[in-house]
Amino acid sequence: MTNPTRNAPCTCHPAWGSLGGAPRTFAGRTGNLLHVSKDPYALAVDAAAALKNVTGVESFDVALVMGSGWVAAAEAIGTTVAEIAVTDLPGFAPPAVAGHAGRIRAVTTGTGRNALIFLGRTHLYEGLGVEPVVHGVRTALAAGAGTVVLTNAAGGLRPETQRVGDPVLIGDHINLTGANPLTGARFVDLTSVYSPRLRALAKESDPSLAEGVYVAFRGPTYETPAEIRMCRAIGGDLVGMSTALEAIAAREGGAEVLGLSLVTNPGAGLVGEPLNHEEVLEVGRATAARMGVLLADVVGKL
Ligand code: HPA
Repeated sequence: MTNPTRNAPCTCHPAWGSLGGAPRTFAGRTGNLLHVSKDPYALAVDAAAALKNVTGVESFDVALVMGSGWVAAAEAIGTTVAEIAVTDLPGFAPPAVAGHAGRIRAVTTGTGRNALIFLGRTHLYEGLGVEPVVHGVRTALAAGAGTVVLTNAAGGLRPETQRVGDPVLIGDHINLTGANPLTGARFVDLTSVYSPRLRALAKESDPSLAEGVYVAFRGPTYETPAEIRMCRAIGGDLVGMSTALEAIAAREGGAEVLGLSLVTNPGAGLVGEPLNHEEVLEVGRATAARMGVLLADVVGKL
């Protein structure tokens, strides 16, 4: 697969320059506690090696991270070659929320690409820190993926123009999580986090796709109506609890990123109804098949 924006190889972190090298340890400081843990990049390299062993797939072209309850979307991407639990690989946390499946599929697409599909993700609100949140993306990159497709369920900040069940392309994000997966002097350029080339391909697949700015919060609470008004004022169109950190990690590793939100509800206070996690999941399940058709079409063009 040709990928003009993939930096070869990523030099942002020493571990990326030596994929497959010996696992390293690093020391980090949390409050007053000095702890020694495995370097997260080396852990991703280990997970990629285990992934190759258990799936028998040598390397992957594209990775897709599916939002809550999007199993039907995964079905549309291609033929499943192997499916494993995330906990079969080093460094993955078991799923914390019902409806977040916690499985990984190796799939062959209709055009013969190797796709890695994460059914569920780790969220910052689980309290495990930022590294488990981006471990899937880093593992995918270590397994060869040059394209990362991030999907999510999101609150819509523009009910004037958005309808529940609409897919919206992510054009940019505002990271209000208070976290960043990068530490140290790694000044990664985020001018075009969400690839203009991939956005154009997605619009070819569905010319009616709107584009918007995704505002990422830590959660797990939904936002207050005042926060939603702030998000609208600062230029947000979508609000959610994922994606931004994964996108940063993917860009650090030089992958091209496509982001796609499914509007599952209007943001808090915009229509007066209280928000309900079960309803958010239900909208995801109900529209996942349609999202799958769109994703399969875009992946087919990569
Ligand atoms: N806010 C945050 N995350 C979400 C929402 C929301 O309104 N809907 C789905 N995920």
